[in-house]
Amino acid sequence: MMHLSVVILAAGQGKRMRSRTPKILHALAGKPLLQHVIDTATLLDPQQVIIIHSPVISPQHSGITGAALQWIEQAQALGTGHAVQQALTHLQQAAATHVLVLYGDVPAIHVSTLQRMCDQATQGADIVVLTAIASNPTGLGRIVRGQDGQLCAIVEELDADTHQKAITEINTGLMLFRLEMLQQFLPLLHADNAQSEYYLTDVIGLAQQYNHVLATVLCPDAEETQGINDRVQLAQVERYYQKRQALALMQQGVTLADPNRFDCRGHLVADTDVFIDINCVFEGSVQLGQGVSIGPNCIIKDAIIAAGTTVKANTLIEGAVIASKASIGPFARIRPGTEIATQAQVGNFVEIKKTYLGAGSKASHLSYLGDAHIGEHVNIGAGVITCNYDGVNKHTTTIEDDVFVGSDCQLIAPVVIKKGATIGAGSTITRDVPAEGLTLSRVAQKSVPHWQRNKKTDK
Ligand code: UD1
Ligand code: CA
Repeated sequence: MMHLSVVILAAGQGKRMRSRTPKILHALAGKPLLQHVIDTATLLDPQQVIIIHSPVISPQHSGITGAALQWIEQAQALGTGHAVQQALTHLQQAAATHVLVLYGDVPAIHVSTLQRMCDQATQGADIVVLTAIASNPTGLGRIVRGQDGQLCAIVEELDADTHQKAITEINTGLMLFRLEMLQQFLPLLHADNAQSEYYLTDVIGLAQQYNHVLATVLCPDAEETQGINDRVQLAQVERYYQKRQALALMQQGVTLADPNRFDCRGHLVADTDVFIDINCVFEGSVQLGQGVSIGPNCIIKDAIIAAGTTVKANTLIEGAVIASKASIGPFARIRPGTEIATQAQVGNFVEIKKTYLGAGSKASHLSYLGDAHIGEHVNIGAGVITCNYDGVNKHTTTIEDDVFVGSDCQLIAPVVIKKGATIGAGSTITRDVPAEGLTLSRVAQKSVPHWQRNKKTDK
């Protein structure tokens, strides 16, 4: 039985980001790098997650969350071996059998890869090293294998000879140890190397001398283990991560107009035959039902959109529930607390906030609907505005079924428009409107015959 603890190394300086924000708090897909690592590690159901952090991070103010988190400060970054050593007493207290070492700046690591490492440990390996084939291994630790192909040491770039530098299999830095390996060998580390650091990688050479079982797992995808040191690498890993999400969606039956122009900064669940055009951004938690179509340049956050609904170009949706077969946009803005019923239509330059728009109702052009409850088969004409705010309080507008509101009306809330009423264009409605019939408030039109405009006088 494996009692797994996770140690996340996150005490590096991160100077190359050139930022006031600590590197591990920079966002990938809208979430801090360190949070990605924690969330992925949590999928393995570890008994503790220890974060080795530098003094510049204040755990309480970091915004980082997770179950069973323990923060340990490494006052000085004296190397990866020294970093893991800071966790040793905590690991012993938790009676861990195995310790998975992850990096806070390697956010794209996938749980399936970590699972493969755990499998090797279950099969008896004392240490499992995650390796990758690097197109450019410069700067990375090289995997040195013996005649039999077995791992025997990891040699850092600066300590490597020319022969070792030619090796392209590299140490990703992610390793899994039986706790005894750390207890036995961490105290033996020396900093007599080119960087005067305590190398965690030296544990490998020591364990090999004591005939412990060393195993490697080759990560088929070197990008998955890419560490982030600067903003160029941040952008590269962002694209890699987005592409991976895009591929997963396509495999589930979603059509993406261009997987290179897809961004999900949260959690997107999409049913089959969803179509997503280019340059859309999904944030928070979004659900798209069967056959939903999203036009280009839409931003959708925390929304549920049911089957068969079409969202047209340049629409913003946040905190809304939209039922089936509705049509939204182009250029619509749907704000939090909005619920749009089946077959409703919202057109261009319509802003809707905290409003229920009933089945089959339409607001097709240039409206503001806020704090309103609108029934079924209502027509909201162009330019209609609910005047919901008196400067202090918000008030509700209620529009019952089958109402027709003519263009350019102001509905001054609180106000109720009863079933089937028609409101003439250009009206300012200040009192409740009775059912059926026509209501209008309009200054009578007059014409002045033979009236002349002023003419410019010659100089
Ligand atoms: C390390 C490995 C190297 C591997 C490379 C992969 C060692 C000695 N070398 O290189 O074999 O190819 O990672 O990127 O382990 N950290 C601390 N405290 C420290 C030092 C580092 O928390 O005192 C953290 C850093 O924040 C980072 C990780 O450990 O997340 C790796 O440190 P970094 O300096 O980037 O790696 P290298 O030592 O260059
Ligand atoms: Ca590094």
